Amino acid sequence: MSIIRHPEWAEKGRMAVDWASAHMPAIGEILKKHRETSPLSGVKVGGSLHVTKETGVLVKALKELGADVALAASNPITTQDEVAAHLSDVGIHVYAFRGETRGEYLTFIAEIVDFEPDIVIDDGGDTHVYLHEERQDLLQSIVGGTEETTTGITRLRALSEAGKLAYPIMAVNNAKTKRIFDNRYGTGQSTIEGILRATSLLLGGKVFVICGFGYVGRGIAERARGMGSKVVVTEVNSLRALEAHIRGFSVMPLEEAAKIGDIFVTATGQTDVIRKEHFGLMKDGAILANSGHFDVEISKEDLEALALKKREGVREFVDEYVLSDDRRLYLLGEGRLINLVAAEGHPPEVMMSSFSNQILSVIYLIENDGGLDPKVYDIPKEIDSEVADFVLKGWRIAKDVLTDKQKRYEKKWR
Ligand SMILES: NC(=O)c1ccc[n+]([C@@H]2O[C@H](COP(=O)([O-])OP(=O)(O)OC[C@H]3O[C@@H](n4cnc5c(N)ncnc54)[C@H](O)[C@@H]3O)[C@@H](O)[C@H]2O)c1
Repeated sequence: MSIIRHPEWAEKGRMAVDWASAHMPAIGEILKKHRETSPLSGVKVGGSLHVTKETGVLVKALKELGADVALAASNPITTQDEVAAHLSDVGIHVYAFRGETRGEYLTFIAEIVDFEPDIVIDDGGDTHVYLHEERQDLLQSIVGGTEETTTGITRLRALSEAGKLAYPIMAVNNAKTKRIFDNRYGTGQSTIEGILRATSLLLGGKVFVICGFGYVGRGIAERARGMGSKVVVTEVNSLRALEAHIRGFSVMPLEEAAKIGDIFVTATGQTDVIRKEHFGLMKDGAILANSGHFDVEISKEDLEALALKKREGVREFVDEYVLSDDRRLYLLGEGRLINLVAAEGHPPEVMMSSFSNQILSVIYLIENDGGLDPKVYDIPKEIDSEVADFVLKGWRIAKDVLTDKQKRYEKKWR
């Protein structure tokens, strides 16, 4: 049973997933290693993820390892309908279409929970939180869960600190082979791509303001500089502000940056980062986009309150807000993750590492059923390094190994 919008697009979806799969060879390496033993045989996996071609590769791999899989979207407007159609066609239970209302989005999360999964894969924490708040009757039967992104980990750590987390969570986001590649390089490239697809404007010479110099912000800053923008960083963390400065970016408070920026991108995981006082200072024509998980980083309430007029869809993914002094501000993708709304999200090569961590974490949870406490676990080093090996192998990249003499040298203290 699935709820999707365009079942007739299944063939297009199959080609999209095949394209991604061809660029995610590590997943094939993992399947080669585990296929014969079917480690997920009889396991129900419920997932809430952006329904993209790369996610298609992930859920098909889980199915190939024996799992029965149900999938909902982790955002109401990022689903690739053709991918949803293909996945439904190959026996995944899919509840997702692009442009879900808030109510539909929540109903589909409820469908994933009603599926009574053994393992819950989540991106942003909405499904884990729904389970803890609305379906406590199911909590004991859940073997464990995984979490894909920074914001989800923050929420689950808070749940854990409140003493309420009921099952173990593998923090996929925190694996080095996830965060360094996906958050930094994946979001770096795909955020620029989203902004370009939405606006078709030149980045060279523009003042490009990035709020937040974490993993995501660093990636966007590097890519924007590479496109010829003058990059300005705003930060609240001293070390990261310092790092941005030493990497050659201008660092200043948003009150200053607001006056000079042409393009603003938020990547903080925080709320109300760009708000009324900043909109009041911006230049006519300033462009606003977000790449953080939730659409709370740019205050849409303040923008609506300040604007005398709003024109939706002046281009696809671009809404125009006209302020009382005739200044026009442009919000991209309704303030939701621009790389997934206006572009296709991260490149498959990047999702290969992230989703290799997902697959190995699901297998780990099943293998350690009953042996883990209900807390948030970082991905074990062995899994992180195994993922790196799978990726290198998939790309046919060989590395050097230490000689015996070097290994002995490493252990000497004299
Ligand atoms: N678009 C995507 O595809 C994608 C991919 C990965 C992560 N994410 C999301 O991006 C967000 C950031 O993730 P991350 O891994 O970079 O997190 P991070 O914790 O490494 O970085 C966030 C940075 O923002 C800074 N910050 C917080 N509040 C701020 C404020 N008011 N002004 C300026 N700076 C502020 C923090 O000090 C920190 O350095 C999260 O919501 C995460 O879930 C999105």
